[in-house]
Amino acid sequence: RTIRMEVARYRPGQDAEPVFQGYDVPLMSDWAVLDGLNYIKDQLDGSLSYRWSCRMGVCGSCGMTVNGEARLTCGTFLTEYGEGPVRIEPLKGFPVIRDLVVDIEDFLAKLSSVRPWLIREGEDLPLTAEYAQTPEQLEAYKQYSMCINCLLCYSACPVYVLDPDFLGPAAIALAQRYNLDSRDMGDRFDVLNQDDAVWGCTFVGECTKVCPKHVDPAEAIQRYKLTAALRSVLPWSRR
Ligand code: FES
Repeated sequence: RTIRMEVARYRPGQDAEPVFQGYDVPLMSDWAVLDGLNYIKDQLDGSLSYRWSCRMGVCGSCGMTVNGEARLTCGTFLTEYGEGPVRIEPLKGFPVIRDLVVDIEDFLAKLSSVRPWLIREGEDLPLTAEYAQTPEQLEAYKQYSMCINCLLCYSACPVYVLDPDFLGPAAIALAQRYNLDSRDMGDRFDVLNQDDAVWGCTFVGECTKVCPKHVDPAEAIQRYKLTAALRSVLPWSRR
């Protein structure tokens, strides 16, 4: 048995517009969509471009649009799509570099903008200093540290697709990963308390639905809205 995969092909600057190219690949019960793409690349058409690395839902590089939904292709089985066809497109909301490969420069800049590191103030300790945490303190931010930067939440977010300046789900969840860390003394209010940051979120919740690691960015955003609102009446409140 085979299943039809319809794959978006596009070389900006050379092709007028994306077209779908059809390939028949073996329908194996243990094959993910990524296995189908690898079969195409290895056996049928070596010119196909896409990203992947770990094949186990860890590296976050294989996100694509599969039959209209943002999915990790290494974690999505071909058998989910019955007799097919399975239509593979690049993640929505990002410029295409070639075929299924998108430009992530803007995403990386957004991650950096929230100062994603432990900020300490007024200290002169050696780099080897230890900052012990209780299990409860770890639990407070652990969920937000599970993000693998797969871009699925941005691709599914209706705000980001309409407004590329929106800071977006993963970057705000990353900020909360540090805001809620007992070792962090930083203040990210200036970045987060903006119309293009937490206040731009309309709480549709698509980011949380597609997140393969259950980070729940929608919750991270709503939590910071509360923090920012409290700060307007209690200026010394930071978390
Ligand atoms: Fe690494 Fe899919 S290949 S997450």
